[in-house]
Amino acid sequence: MTKTAPATVSPLFVTELYRADLATQPGFEDFLAELDDTCRAIADEDEAGQTWSQTKGYLGYTSYASLNDLPARASVFADLKAMLDTHVAAFAEKLDFDLHGQKLKLNSLWINILEPMGHHSSHIHPHSVVSGTFYVSIPEGASALRLEDPRLGFMMNAPLRKANGRSEHQTFVNVTPQAGTVLLWESWLRHEVPINLSDDVRISVSFNYG
Ligand SMILES: [Fe+2]
Repeated sequence: MTKTAPATVSPLFVTELYRADLATQPGFEDFLAELDDTCRAIADEDEAGQTWSQTKGYLGYTSYASLNDLPARASVFADLKAMLDTHVAAFAEKLDFDLHGQKLKLNSLWINILEPMGHHSSHIHPHSVVSGTFYVSIPEGASALRLEDPRLGFMMNAPLRKANGRSEHQTFVNVTPQAGTVLLWESWLRHEVPINLSDDVRISVSFNYG
């Protein structure tokens, strides 16, 4: 019997997730504490946001539909924006985006305060190029971010993947952030926040660049 000829398997059309964990940087604890306080203070006073969250069945608070000026409203958000600009530029570089010398710009940025048992069902972020989340408070048991294989709709007869298989072969991947984590992905990538099983709120800031 002839020996099997050597073969290669190459990843094509790769979906990339960018992650940076910033909590170990000097002075970062103070930054996170200030951001945490500011998120809670804004949530307390933003009645339009509270009403919108309640109407939409969001268990907790989001400024998504009520405030579009967080970096102008509080300097800690201006600092966060500056930091995110750098990470998004690095991700665009990693993705080999040809931006004709331009940079992706922040289109929107909003606070999410998710109560225990709250969740955010599966969605994409239309009209954007890169989306992401910065995690402010991730108590014990808080939801991960669940990402879905963008080719799922084409998988008419694809076998399930082995549970212990490589993460890049899974159909759904849960990514567990910690306070100070930045996650970035291309805006078409469907994702969700499963039920928050923590006893405490999960605080994050999400954003779109385009
Ligand atoms: Fe999202």
